Amino acid sequence: METLFIGKNTIFLPEIGSTNSYATDLLKNVNLSEGTVVHTANQTQGRGQRGNSWNAEPASNLTASIILKPGFLNIKKQFFLYQVAALACYDTLAELLKTSHFDIKIKWPNDLLVNRHKISGILIENNILNNAISSCIIGIGVNVNQKNFEGGIKATSLKLLTGEDFSVAAVLQLLCSYLEKYYLALKNNKYDWITEMYLSHFFGLDQWLNFDINGNIEPLLVKGMSDNGLLLLEDRSGYTREVDVQGLKWVY
Ligand code: BTN
Repeated sequence: METLFIGKNTIFLPEIGSTNSYATDLLKNVNLSEGTVVHTANQTQGRGQRGNSWNAEPASNLTASIILKPGFLNIKKQFFLYQVAALACYDTLAELLKTSHFDIKIKWPNDLLVNRHKISGILIENNILNNAISSCIIGIGVNVNQKNFEGGIKATSLKLLTGEDFSVAAVLQLLCSYLEKYYLALKNNKYDWITEMYLSHFFGLDQWLNFDINGNIEPLLVKGMSDNGLLLLEDRSGYTREVDVQGLKWVY
């Protein structure tokens, strides 16, 4: 699939600590074109959300960072970048897995689950100038051909789900085209449509799930997401809380 700008300029590194860190450093010194993709076959110090690490077996997975310049986006709307990236991952997985056999969901804010197992994670790092996002690095990891996951984590890969081998380059190409589609929608102010799409894939929506909030496990009803991107959870007394990602763990 052809794209207009995402993936037109690519930087491939056989091995690097973190594509996000590499892209961050590069942006400080070089005026990279919007849509530049940094990807590697072996990410040795991958970074995840909330200071976690992201481990990926060499030559088996997608580990890439895409540079965007959403100068049009007010920082109050930065959560839309997560929605756009998650939707691009969703569509990529849906196309590769032919949806009907697999339950693909976006777990707020930015995890992609298939049959309740994590297959993809997103780490976005923004550079802010005058209340707008001058540049951002969208780091995406997708488990493609990896078969073993250490530490008893609930993870899966395209290979584990289908028994087939996938071309990591083809997964990246698809991801770039879907990211461009949703990013252009964002640029065209299609905020409501983006959120509608995001909520249509929302893990646990309208279900009672257990959450670990600062160490306390409690059942809460998943109501969706507030305008500023916080998770809406209703408790048994009918009170709706807006919850930040800090201190929150889904128990599922
Ligand atoms: C998460 O689920 O916590 C987010 C994981 C993000 C991993 C990707 S892999 C490519 C890019 N480079 C990094 O160091 N992290 C992101």
